[in-house]
Amino acid sequence: MLELPGLIDPHVHLREPGGTHKEDFDTGTAAALAGGFTAVLAMPNTQPPLADAASLELARGTARAKARCDYGLFLGAGEHNLDVAGELAPQVCGLKVYMDQTYGPLRMGSFSALLAHFKRWPGPGPIACHAEGPSLAVVLALAQLFEQRIHICHVSLGIELELIRLAKQRGTRVTCEVAPHHLFLSREDLPAIGPGRAEVRPPLASPSDVAALWAGLEVVDCFATDHAPHTLQEKDGAEPPPGFPGLETALGLLMGGIREGRLSIEDLIQRMHVNPQKIFGLPPQPETWIEVDEDAAWEVRAAELQSRCGWSPFEGMKLIGRVRRVTLRGRLAYQDGEVLGPMGYGRDLVAAVQSVPA
Ligand code: NCD
Ligand code: ZN
Ligand code: ZN
Ligand code: ZN
Repeated sequence: MLELPGLIDPHVHLREPGGTHKEDFDTGTAAALAGGFTAVLAMPNTQPPLADAASLELARGTARAKARCDYGLFLGAGEHNLDVAGELAPQVCGLKVYMDQTYGPLRMGSFSALLAHFKRWPGPGPIACHAEGPSLAVVLALAQLFEQRIHICHVSLGIELELIRLAKQRGTRVTCEVAPHHLFLSREDLPAIGPGRAEVRPPLASPSDVAALWAGLEVVDCFATDHAPHTLQEKDGAEPPPGFPGLETALGLLMGGIREGRLSIEDLIQRMHVNPQKIFGLPPQPETWIEVDEDAAWEVRAAELQSRCGWSPFEGMKLIGRVRRVTLRGRLAYQDGEVLGPMGYGRDLVAAVQSVPA
């Protein structure tokens, strides 16, 4: 049995408010615990989006009542929430900027608003960017010019990782994450997954991009699932929304990478615990660890997963390495397929930092 610190996923979509038929704070954090995650950072592309005080308060209320593991919330950058973003900054784990079209209405459509956010964001969290291809060059330049700390979400291409490597060498304050599906799937898997189900942003890339991500792993600060649940009905429908669920398969996939000698257990701990905690300024979770059976072989069957979405792009895949037990702040929160951490046990890690007396 392998004992690891509680995993931290800096990029999940829990769909609350407004998308609870896909997932909510209850099922999403149950999936997190089952996957070995004791903290998740939730994205703001909800309905309504988390882009003002009222929507944030709504989400925080439900999270407080329903979350089974610890969490932080991102604020979405919009064209009309510049002042509000500054005021709400201490309550969120970061500001999320959507540079490109993806799921939800939060795409940044105004160049002047983008510049103003980069000029005015006070931190302490970074500006997290969905920035594919040329958009990546834009946000790297803005980070440099406005001396902002940025975190690049779900990097999927070799040239993007090269650009980030170069920016780091030049002193830009940039960190980045890669999602397991971009390390373990390529566009060659599209036919097997099916066209609608395989829709994801950024799209599955070429095998040579996958190889480049593995080869450039030292530039990758975090693994993030980008857990983006949509129902099977939606994925198989006429306009399939992009996104894969990923919380319950990430560790098994990456343990496979360790088995194959592509990374070490230390590499994994750095990218799934140490770095996400540091980058987002999260407080340590005392008495928190997970127990992993490195030799447990299992097959991915969506029907057995905790996520409400009911499918997985990894369906039928045979993985070795499975979470047996999760202890969160002294309490057994997951054991052998059973989620034991009750709704409401999860804490807002960012609010927790705020409430520490000076
Ligand atoms: C995400 C979603 O469904 O919210 N979809 C995706 O394909 N990754 C949005 C996002 O992270 O870009
Ligand atoms: Zn994205
Ligand atoms: Zn996402
Ligand atoms: Zn630690």
